[in-house]
Amino acid sequence: MRFQDKVVIITGGASGIGLATAKRLASEGARIVLADINQDNLDQAVPEVQQAGAPDVLPSMCNVAKEDEVMATVKATLDKFGRLDAVINNAGLMQFKALEELSGDDWLRVLSVDLLGAFYFTKQAFLHMKPGGAVVNVSSIHAVATEALVAPYAAAKAAVLSLTRSSAIEGAPKGLRINSVLPGAIDTPMLWNNPNVKSGVEKINPSDVGKPENVAAAIAFLASDDAEFVQGSELLVDGGRLDHL
Ligand SMILES: NC(=O)c1ccc[n+]([C@@H]2O[C@H](COP(=O)([O-])OP(=O)(O)OC[C@H]3O[C@@H](n4cnc5c(N)ncnc54)[C@H](O)[C@@H]3O)[C@@H](O)[C@H]2O)c1
Repeated sequence: MRFQDKVVIITGGASGIGLATAKRLASEGARIVLADINQDNLDQAVPEVQQAGAPDVLPSMCNVAKEDEVMATVKATLDKFGRLDAVINNAGLMQFKALEELSGDDWLRVLSVDLLGAFYFTKQAFLHMKPGGAVVNVSSIHAVATEALVAPYAAAKAAVLSLTRSSAIEGAPKGLRINSVLPGAIDTPMLWNNPNVKSGVEKINPSDVGKPENVAAAIAFLASDDAEFVQGSELLVDGGRLDHL
């Protein structure tokens, strides 16, 4: 029970990788805060996370792109539980447009969720976490190899790796660890709603598709004390997809 008595915020925790992570950490004793923008999914997720073993679950409607909403979620967490041990920056969105069709607002919409959301929660973690705390950022293989039509997403996910590095440098003296995972193709709504996947522009070999639980296991390791000497790392969880010629 690596997370006994610990309190973990998971952004985008009401679906896919975030929900699988919530259940995994719950099964290891964590009290879970699900921070998500989708109320219906939150309502469905709470009993699932309870069933997985969470001693307590706090659902928190939160748009991670808004710093005041992030602050409100962290305050609600501290008011209810009195501590914060880990943050999983998992909320994310993609947008599909050719470069010449993208506006500055399109870029800002993606960057504000995928990058600034992670920054706002990391800032709160630095302000409120005690030594031993951990942040895990969910990047993507798009940070290192990408395709057409997703420039803002690829840039945001690459910047998340840079944020991880900067956070690790500044977090280490505070006793905080910050690491990232780079999932490949994972069986979640985000993968199958991807127009590039639907149209066949992005070809996915079925053997390259992982389960949300595969990523959750990696996140749980990085968030746990088992990873006490792992700092600023980038863990690929892609079943070897990036290695193919
Ligand atoms: N599924 C994949 O193949 C894959 C691959 C690489 C990386 N990722 C990354 O994994 C993370 C989770 O994706 P997923 O596949 O589980 O997707 P998903 O669509 O199943 O879940 C994403 C969750 O994030 C929430 N969310 C979106 N915008 C938000 C916001 N502004 N504030 C708060 N919550 C918000 C959604 O409501 C949803 O619950 C994302 O960061 C994604 O980029 C996914």
